[in-house]
Amino acid sequence: MHLAQVAEIERLSYADAWSEEDIAAFFDWGNCFGYVLTCREDQDSEVETVETVAAFLLFEVTQGRIHIADVAVHPRFRRMGLANRLIERLFVLAGRLGKKRVSLEVRMSNSAAIECYLRLGFRRQRIKKNYYPDGEDGVYMSRYLPERLETAETA
Ligand SMILES: CC(C)(COP(=O)(O)OP(=O)(O)OC[C@H]1O[C@@H](n2cnc3c(N)ncnc32)[C@H](O)[C@@H]1OP(=O)(O)O)[C@@H](O)C(=O)NCCC(=O)NCCS
Repeated sequence: MHLAQVAEIERLSYADAWSEEDIAAFFDWGNCFGYVLTCREDQDSEVETVETVAAFLLFEVTQGRIHIADVAVHPRFRRMGLANRLIERLFVLAGRLGKKRVSLEVRMSNSAAIECYLRLGFRRQRIKKNYYPDGEDGVYMSRYLPERLETAETA
């Protein structure tokens, strides 16, 4: 996983961003995985191209569900459907693993992310008071998965 670039997107996205070490530690918790979306871009005054991480998704596979630990898109690549694409991909994985739902927590003030999740079929389940270290409440959201999601996607 492209840790340095993922950490840079973190830094550009959150006041309390995870460091590269924090992200590496996440993968040691057990059953924790990540997706990155990359693109190839021209390097300044070079013929060569570089691989740039545009977005990432970190998640934990638990007994009955998949829990999204983090999803972020580089500011240059927002509103292009990338978060949507990553989460849709996770729904397919959840279907393949026989999981019934995907869950997450989001800051109450993060209206962009909440809108994105609502559009993907997540519903607000409950408020987690003082969930974040700065005291902000979290919104716990879930998306129940229909049967045969994998078939629908791959048809
Ligand atoms: C939230 C975030 C992941 C969305 O990523 P994105 O790739 O820009 O989202 P998408 O392009 O897939 O958007 C899908 C839909 O979500 C909603 N949405 C996304 N960003 C929005 C915004 N800034 N304001 C309002 N709605 C928004 C829209 O309904 C959008 O569909 P539309 O573009 O057709 O209107 C991105 O803004 C981000 O990285 N934010 C910082 C990190 C963060 O807050 N992560 C969530 C932690 S819980």
